Amino acid sequence: MQKRTVIVTGASSGIGKELAIGLAKKIKPEEIWAVARDLGRLEALKEFLSVPVRPISADLTTPEGLSALRALLEQERPVVEVLVNASGFGIFERVDKIPEEDNLGMVDLNCRALTAMTQMVFPYLHAKSCVVNLASMAAFEPIPYGSVYAATKAYVLSFSRALAREWKQLDIKVLAVCPYWTKTAFIDRSNKHGVIGNFEVMYEPAFIAKKTLSAMDKRRDYVVPGAYAKLTHALTKILPHSLVMRVFMRRQKLK
Ligand SMILES: NC(=O)c1ccc[n+]([C@@H]2O[C@H](COP(=O)([O-])OP(=O)(O)OC[C@H]3O[C@@H](n4cnc5c(N)ncnc54)[C@H](OP(=O)(O)O)[C@@H]3O)[C@@H](O)[C@H]2O)c1
Repeated sequence: MQKRTVIVTGASSGIGKELAIGLAKKIKPEEIWAVARDLGRLEALKEFLSVPVRPISADLTTPEGLSALRALLEQERPVVEVLVNASGFGIFERVDKIPEEDNLGMVDLNCRALTAMTQMVFPYLHAKSCVVNLASMAAFEPIPYGSVYAATKAYVLSFSRALAREWKQLDIKVLAVCPYWTKTAFIDRSNKHGVIGNFEVMYEPAFIAKKTLSAMDKRRDYVVPGAYAKLTHALTKILPHSLVMRVFMRRQKLK
């Protein structure tokens, strides 16, 4: 029997995990597919959710990981109410000092896997379904020492907004989420070189999830959760990017 399903990539921690918890309550699906690499942490998610969880361990940067998801979709033919693409990572450092594998890994996970997931889930979406893509505040401006990461998130924002327009005629909602710094494992991984010295404001992943869930019911195609983030976003819209980059570099004491 086809089940009403929510699919969340990056469900093993941070914003993806909080969205899985929130969507279980909001949508009450018959099943949540929780996707990430760490099977133990996906299994542990069952404790927090009021609906059945199907943990799916897959490295979405590999053809095998994507094929496993495709095969499962073809086998189960779920009725997908919501797809959340939250798997992602960033590394902050001068681009030539980041291993090529990591630079390409950001492109593979943040852009390629997100695009593949969106397209492969499409046949299982229906009118009123929703696709939630995790972009970032970094999507709005070039970020020196975060150049590849920011570029991947600009891709996510641009792709999602254009797709929202394309799928409007199908009544499928597409929402890009643009969080500011958020207290998750992302921070330690992205700042392992200590490039970011000033985080100014740090949001809780549960707050980002709450604002995302309410934005799903509104007409907008992207959301910037939090007042400080909204102010920063407004400034990046009106100021020249050369100035915004200079201010960022000065705040982070970068040359
Ligand atoms: N935290 C922030 O400050 C911030 C700000 C703006 C945007 N974002 C974006 O928000 C999204 C969620 O990040 P987060 O802050 O919640 O960080 P997080 O706690 O590190 O979560 C990242 C998730 O991605 C999964 N993942 C990593 N590599 C993967 C791979 N190769 N294949 C499949 N899944 C993989 C991780 O699980 P496994 O390790 O188990 O695979 C984890 O569940 C990301 O797209 C991030 O870029 C974060």
